[in-house]
Amino acid sequence: MDKFVIRGGNPLLGTVRVSGAKNAALPAMAAAILTDEPVILENIPQVRDIETTRKLLAAMGAEVELGYGRAQHRTTICCRNLTSPEASYELVKTMRASTLVLGPLVARCGHARVSLPGGCAIGSRPIDLHIKGLERLGATITQDHGYVEASAKRLRGAEIVFDKITVTGTEDLLMAASLADGETVMQNCAREPEVADLAELLNKMGAHIEGAGTPTIRVKGVSKLHGARHRIIPDRIEAATFIIAGALTGGDLNVAGCDPRHLDALLQKLDEAGVKTAHNADSLRVMGDGPLKAADIVTAEYPGFPTDMQAQYMVLATQAEGTSNITENIFENRFVHAQELLRMGARIKIEGRRAVVRGKSPLSAAAVLASDLRASASLVLAALVAEGESIIDRVYHIDRGYEHIEEKLRGVGAQIRRIGEMLPKRAVAPAVRA
Ligand code: EPZ
Repeated sequence: MDKFVIRGGNPLLGTVRVSGAKNAALPAMAAAILTDEPVILENIPQVRDIETTRKLLAAMGAEVELGYGRAQHRTTICCRNLTSPEASYELVKTMRASTLVLGPLVARCGHARVSLPGGCAIGSRPIDLHIKGLERLGATITQDHGYVEASAKRLRGAEIVFDKITVTGTEDLLMAASLADGETVMQNCAREPEVADLAELLNKMGAHIEGAGTPTIRVKGVSKLHGARHRIIPDRIEAATFIIAGALTGGDLNVAGCDPRHLDALLQKLDEAGVKTAHNADSLRVMGDGPLKAADIVTAEYPGFPTDMQAQYMVLATQAEGTSNITENIFENRFVHAQELLRMGARIKIEGRRAVVRGKSPLSAAAVLASDLRASASLVLAALVAEGESIIDRVYHIDRGYEHIEEKLRGVGAQIRRIGEMLPKRAVAPAVRA
């Protein structure tokens, strides 16, 4: 298992480029199931979850070309022959987003068998709302031996009101409804930019979707969808992670290739925290020269403060003047990183869904353990400002969703390197050279 060795103390200076959004690319790849023609997706991030999705689609009989070049990261997916409309436990257990194939499979093949994902490091994460929605669309659902089986000769349009806002649930049903007979109106939908990006792709494939990005989405079902070419939106969470890194290290960082319109909640909070930023249409500069001030955050569905940035923001709060309250409202167990940050000298008290973070805490390097994707990112950030050399174990979590983060950070002055299995566990490695 790879580890990162990070020596803290360097301000991040220069330009770092953002990759395509993992959470937009995953549903886009699942959308290819809906047609027998090729779907070409550009700006695909080179991260492990994409490779898992490639395997998932290939196991169903899809032809998937995935290529990463200097100029273009692209995949071409052709689901002409879907011989096995199934997502096995082996794949679903490593990536919950695999459940995104449920809706498209039943819509296209009339049948789907998808493993239930089970628990997850950040919370219980059920998929009952996907299932309820598919039932509303006329699918018959059974659950057996840890699998969900869905079947329907042809799905039919329906009114769906989500009990709770769900991102992949909205996406799953949006795909299913696109091939249903008649009109579907979905209410209380997720408004994330990734949902709107998926709808844009589906419309290019011949779907009739209106209102994606708002709480109410209307879909006029069609009998067939065709191939399309689509460019995935930039990863707003990766961009936001770099912005925090720039602010935290007292750097001057240009985050290029992002869409600042997707970052409003974070930028407003950073303004409150004393961080100066300036942006144009596709890049953002963060100037970390001023003092940081405490500011409270409450995670919420988009356009609120993203849960996927809560862990990274917590690190910023450890360095700000004053006490910050961080309330996690989306997932019930998303403070695991706090335990590792405590080991680095942070002063954090967890009170149920709230973390109380006392600022101006000097961090010191330690050997720490990454527990999930965004938790790993927070540990990298903490190590960038900690005194001494930290070792972050289990970085396979970060590889799921950040493309070559160590190379990108090194390019703007961080002292970070990846080491393989050969070093003894939790040993302190020799000093990193910049
Ligand atoms: C998406 O997960 C993202 N994943 C997550 O990204 C992100 O943290 C999350 O949305 C919230 O923004 C992808 O887009 C692939 P939800 P998703 O369904 O769709 C409850 C990352 O680090 N719920 O919006 O699985 C659920 O338990 C990650 O990139 C039900 O109760 O999240 C949670 O409390 C991890 N029943 C809330 O809704 C359901 O059927 C929101 O979850 C579905 C969800």
